Parts: sequence; structure tokens; C-alpha cells
Amino acid sequence: MSELLNRIICADCIDLLGRVREPFADLVFADPPFNIGYKYDKYHDKVKKKNYIAWTKDWMAACKKVLKAHGSFYIAIGDDYAAYVRTIATDELGLHPRNWIIWHYTFGQQTKSKFARAHTHIFYFVKDKKHFTFNDHAVRVPSDRQLLYNDRRANPLGKVPDDVWNGYSRVCGTFRERTGWHPCQMPETLLRRIIAASSNPGDCVLDPFIGSGTTAAVAYQLGRNYVGVDISEEYVRNASARLADLKEPASANFFFDAAEMTELRQLCIDVRKQPKQILADRSLLMLLTSQFGVRMNGRKRYDVDKVAAALQELST
Ligand SMILES: C[S@@+](CC[C@H](N)C(=O)[O-])C[C@H]1O[C@@H](n2cnc3c(N)ncnc32)[C@H](O)[C@@H]1O
Repeated sequence: MSELLNRIICADCIDLLGRVREPFADLVFADPPFNIGYKYDKYHDKVKKKNYIAWTKDWMAACKKVLKAHGSFYIAIGDDYAAYVRTIATDELGLHPRNWIIWHYTFGQQTKSKFARAHTHIFYFVKDKKHFTFNDHAVRVPSDRQLLYNDRRANPLGKVPDDVWNGYSRVCGTFRERTGWHPCQMPETLLRRIIAASSNPGDCVLDPFIGSGTTAAVAYQLGRNYVGVDISEEYVRNASARLADLKEPASANFFFDAAEMTELRQLCIDVRKQPKQILADRSLLMLLTSQFGVRMNGRKRYDVDKVAAALQELST
């Protein structure tokens, strides 16, 4: 198994995972083709419904087999097959549902004769109903009581986000993180929330449909091990290059290291505020400084002025 660790491997995930004997993954994130006719270089994304459902069962079973006893399993899927994925997971594979998350995005759709489709389903399952990792502190956001109502009863630790996620845009053509060679790249911000919540540093994150390499990139940045699999040689080559680039020394702020800067950027996105807006509002700055400390697992108390300096850097 160790030969798979921290690699992006070209293989059919069902074949590869079928050959592994021991469970090794603490977290699986799977974003399979949705059977909607996307243009991938190797995989044909429009097959008969019954074949797609049978294939879905096979790859889900292969992932469950390599998931550790206390592991978590997230699956992104479109409208047409969401109900099948949920039934396969619970009724056939015996996984326990934790959340049915709606990822709502607002960029890129145009329709004239019906409402625009602007969401993807993300299922969150666990293998053991009672024992699983959920690092609430790492993903907490300020509550409305804190942000809007200035209510003293508010929990100073903020709150765990709801199950409708609407702060994460799809990766559009003009975005810096866009690789340009994969048709449906997931945003790193969305993977950060999942990986931060449902795994610990040193754990192993498996993505059986790694595509552009997003899951591996985020796992690496958060100090997790990763295993990525894709059937396309070209995607594997490019995703491996993305990881190699990341492993170059990262830029750090004068006060904060690269991980802290990335977390601060994520927090701004999670509260849907630009760094400049935060800098212009002292009480918001103080609130986010405290939330940042919670996110960093209470590692240290953060100084408001240092956070302000880091936000200044993010805003330029
Ligand atoms: C929706 S994309 C994943 C995108 C990815 N989440 C990202 O952020 O870039 C699905 C990927 O599954 C790959 N794929 C299709 N069938 C596969 C199989 N049997 N085993 C491994 N990968 C497969 C495709 O080549 C494609 O890159």
C-alpha cells in the first residue's frame, strides 16, 4: 500500500482499489463523471443509465473496501443520479449518512426557458456511526448573531457551517487556480472545508477520480497524505506536475506562514467578505481575528494588527 502514497496513479480505480488488501484511506472524496456528456479525453461520459448505475455501485464498493473503519466518504453528484448514490450507499453498502450537502454556485449559467441549474449534491457518509473524525473548530464560521445582530448570547467560537454551501464559486476561465486542461475542476476552497473537517494531519485522503488534482493539492497543503487515481494518462501527467509545482517553497507573510495565509484567505471566502471590507470595519476585523484563532485550533492567540497586515497583503 505504501507504494500508492502521495502519488497520482494512472489506472481504472475499480481495478486498482480491487487489488489493495488493507483499508488505507481515512477520507475518500469522489467526484465521478456525472453521465451528462462532458468531454473527457479517455472516459465516455454518456452511457446507458443501467450501465452507469452498475458502474457506480462497483466504484463505490471499491472505495468502501479501502476506507478505514473510522473513515468518511464524500461523493459529489448531479441531480440525475443523486438518489441512486444515496440508496447504494445506505441500503447496499451499509454506510451511514451524515449530511446531504448542496453546493450552490452562481457563476456561469444562462437559461431562457427554465430556472438555471446552479448546484451539485455532495453526500457525506461515514463507515462507523459513532466513531469518525469531525474537526468542527477547523471549519467554524462567525454566526449571524455575531456578524449581523451583535448579539451577546452568540457562541464566541462561531458556528459549524450549514449544509448549503454557497460561498464557493465554480472554477471559471479567468481564475488563477484554473488549470485550463481539465473540463470540470473543483475549487480548492470546497475541498479545504471537507479535508479540514474530516481528516487529521498525517491521514490519507483518497480521490479515485482525481482529474485536475484538486483533492491531492489541498491534502498536500493541509499536511495530509494523498492517493489520486485517474484513467487518463494526460490528466495524471498534468495533475502530477501541479503537485510538483506546489511542493516548491511557498511564499509566506512577514508574520504568518503559508498555511496561516491560506487559512486566512479561506476564512474571507467562507464569510464572503473581501479583505478590504474586513479592513474597513474594526469590529469585523476583531471578530475574524478571533475566528481565525479557533480555526487554527487555538494554537496561539492572534494579534489583530498582524491579521490586518496579512489581510492587506491578500488585498493587493
Ligand atoms: C468529474 S472529473 C473529476 C474532477 C476533479 N474532481 C477535479 O477537481 O479536477 C472525473 C474524472 O474521472 C476520471 N475517470 C473516469 N473513469 C475513471 C475510472 N474508471 N477510474 C479512474 N478515473 C476515472 C476522468 O478521466 C475524469 O478526470
